[in-house]
Amino acid sequence: MEAKHIFPSIFIMGLALFLVNADPVEDKRALLDFVNNLPHSRSLNWNESSPVCSYWTGVTCSKDGSRVISVRLPGVGFQGPIPPNTLGRLSALQILSLRSNLISGHFPYDFSNLKNLSFLYLQYNNLSGPLPADFSVWNNLTIVNLSNNRFDGSIPRSLSNLTHLAVLNLANNSLYGEIPDFNLPSLQQINLSNNDLTGSVPKSFTRFPNSVFSGNNISFETSASRVPPVPAPSMAPNPKSKNSRELGETALLGIVIAACVLGFVAFAFLIHVCCSRKKGRNEFSDKLQKGEMSPEKVVSRTQDANNRLVFFEGCNYAFDLEDLLRASAEVLGKGTFGMAYKAILEDATAVVVKRLKEVSVGKRDFEQQMEVVGSIKHENVVELRAYYYSKDEKLMVYDYYSQGSVSAMLHGKRGGERISLDWDNRMKIALGAARGMARIHAENGGKFVHGNIKSSNIFLNSRRYGCVSDIGLSTIMSPLAPPISRAAGYRAPEVTDTRKAAQPSDIYSFGVVLLELLTGKSPIHTTGGDEIIHLVRWVHSVVREEWTAEVFDVELMRCPNIEEEMVEMLQIALSCVVRMPDQRPKMPEVVKMIENVRRVDTENRPSSENRSESSTPPPPASDRES
Ligand SMILES: *[C@@H]1O[C@H](CO)[C@@H](O)[C@H](O)[C@H]1NC(C)=O
Ligand SMILES: *[C@@H]1O[C@H](CO)[C@@H](O)[C@H](O)[C@H]1NC(C)=O
Ligand SMILES: *[C@@H]1O[C@H](CO)[C@@H](O)[C@H](O)[C@H]1NC(C)=O
Ligand SMILES: *[C@@H]1O[C@H](CO)[C@@H](O)[C@H](O)[C@H]1NC(C)=O
Ligand SMILES: *[C@@H]1O[C@H](CO)[C@@H](O)[C@H](O)[C@H]1NC(C)=O
Ligand SMILES: *[C@@H]1O[C@H](CO)[C@@H](O)[C@H](O)[C@H]1NC(C)=O
Ligand SMILES: *[C@@H]1O[C@H](CO)[C@@H](O)[C@H](O)[C@H]1NC(C)=O
Ligand SMILES: *[C@@H]1O[C@H](CO)[C@@H](O)[C@H](O)[C@H]1NC(C)=O
Ligand SMILES: *[C@@H]1O[C@H](CO)[C@@H](O)[C@H](O)[C@H]1NC(C)=O
Repeated sequence: MEAKHIFPSIFIMGLALFLVNADPVEDKRALLDFVNNLPHSRSLNWNESSPVCSYWTGVTCSKDGSRVISVRLPGVGFQGPIPPNTLGRLSALQILSLRSNLISGHFPYDFSNLKNLSFLYLQYNNLSGPLPADFSVWNNLTIVNLSNNRFDGSIPRSLSNLTHLAVLNLANNSLYGEIPDFNLPSLQQINLSNNDLTGSVPKSFTRFPNSVFSGNNISFETSASRVPPVPAPSMAPNPKSKNSRELGETALLGIVIAACVLGFVAFAFLIHVCCSRKKGRNEFSDKLQKGEMSPEKVVSRTQDANNRLVFFEGCNYAFDLEDLLRASAEVLGKGTFGMAYKAILEDATAVVVKRLKEVSVGKRDFEQQMEVVGSIKHENVVELRAYYYSKDEKLMVYDYYSQGSVSAMLHGKRGGERISLDWDNRMKIALGAARGMARIHAENGGKFVHGNIKSSNIFLNSRRYGCVSDIGLSTIMSPLAPPISRAAGYRAPEVTDTRKAAQPSDIYSFGVVLLELLTGKSPIHTTGGDEIIHLVRWVHSVVREEWTAEVFDVELMRCPNIEEEMVEMLQIALSCVVRMPDQRPKMPEVVKMIENVRRVDTENRPSSENRSESSTPPPPASDRES
């Protein structure tokens, strides 16, 4: 199945919804009343005359288009209380996400009309007052995230009637009182940390780690009563905590047996999850690819705890897989390892999503590699924001760079125009990329390999310095077919298997990028007829015959007084592309050499704001990580 079908299928789905039925008029009115009465800093495309179901950002309708069933508006900058009698009229609503806004006031009482509400995300707002007293009106609630607000009062007992509740996050509020002893058999995750709760951990919650109660005044002295409360068919009813206070031999034995039983149950559960997940996966991807997936099903699949976008620390994006799948998307191009898309999320953030094909390693190896890549934080390295791994889909999420890659600037994209890059720009690209590469090579005890350096993987950061992307994928992908793969022009002669790329082969590829910057030519290009020209060979031949200015990009020849610098850079580039891997310089040396070229420049030429900037080294990575 072709990669480009994943996002368009979402469109088709939306289109299908639109064709089936007219607008849900009442719900539309309610949404307009809501948005017109709540100030927000980002504009929404909620145009009264456009169809809700197919056009309005953040809104999903039921299959027949008769009702609105999901409203997701994270990070829209809503400020103030939710206007009464607006969202409360969406009586078929199943999903509501208003997270990461500045919504204040009390929990809206009229939400009690939303009887089918299953997923409620209100975290990171400024809501205050008590939690709703009667949760039992929402008997379908599955995920409740009210964390990071200013709710106070006690935890309502009525939560214990929610048989489907799987996740409850009330962390970072001002809730007080004791934690009621609930029987919530479906509960998988809870976090009550950083409130003003008192007392002890109730028996039914002793299965959760202490960290979920941290930041309260809660005692953990009940370890003797830590008998597993998980309802297991083969287990006798829980012993009364009165009895287990005295840790007699029999009690100990009981605990040991219970622990064994629990271990077995957990194991069985895992097996079950694994097996049923496998089935679900095929269905998921099949449906997704055929565009048959109903929004409800997308949601229930993506709520699978083991199957979600993994974000890295310090990432402040507020979206999840479903948001991503529903985002409007355009194809950016076909990269070495798969298609790249630009996805625009509900809150207008643009991200790049790469869909990898032919990943050759298992989940654990993949995750390990992603952890290393995600930990690299440097102003000259494009940060990996998140990744997603399932059997059928591997996605990587990066920041989007609106100016496009250095390759697009130098050579024009898909026949588009080149962007003029003067010598200063090119020096900054080279220097930035070199620093980024040096940082990457320092990773993993100085052994980390980029594996896919080329100009289409280099972008410009906010200071217009080079910034390296697509790190560390080559080792986890199936080897590329050797003959004329897209990376061929950059590949060092010794590399026969792309998975076995080493640091010297990265240096070679980087040298090719430098040659590209100097000559303005693609690493592999054709002249007139069918003759294929390799940039490295071509530069060698020109330089060998007569050391002329002919190698340099004609555009650069217009800049005055830079010939010497260009020749120096050419020498650096040629030292990187020497045939013998062990004769190539190391990345930190390359950085030094390029910096030296620049220093000559700053001393000899009248200064400009750019130049003083370029001789300042970037702050060390550790400073930026805090
Ligand atoms: C709403 O859509 C109509 C027709 O599509 C268009 O004429 C109008 O300008 C739009 N209004 C806004 C505020 O975008
Ligand atoms: C709630 O969901 C059920 C099952 O999906 C549906 O039959 C019912 O009509 C829904 N309620 C409302 C008010 O839409
Ligand atoms: C939160 O709400 C309170 C009033 O309830 C207000 O004083 C405070 O400024 C609000 N905080 C933010 C960040 O809007
Ligand atoms: C909500 O729960 C009721 C019964 O508890 C069920 O019939 C209905 O299908 C559920 N609705 C949804 C949308 O899951
Ligand atoms: C709830 O919100 C917190 C804070 O944003 C977040 O860390 C957590 O992942 C959320 N939980 C769920 C299940 O969405
Ligand atoms: C649970 O719901 C039942 C009715 O469905 C009600 O009588 C009971 O009080 C509720 N329990 C709590 C703790 O609210
Ligand atoms: C609570 O707030 C702290 C500090 O702002 C934050 O580090 C922590 O992740 C928050 N906890 C949750 C569960 O959101
Ligand atoms: C709960 O939140 C706290 C921070 O508020 C965090 O340290 C802890 O790891 C969280 N626990 C779980 C299980 O998510
Ligand atoms: C914590 O709770 C205990 C009793 O539950 C009380 O004696 C103590 O003063 C409380 N500590 C704080 C810091 O509130």
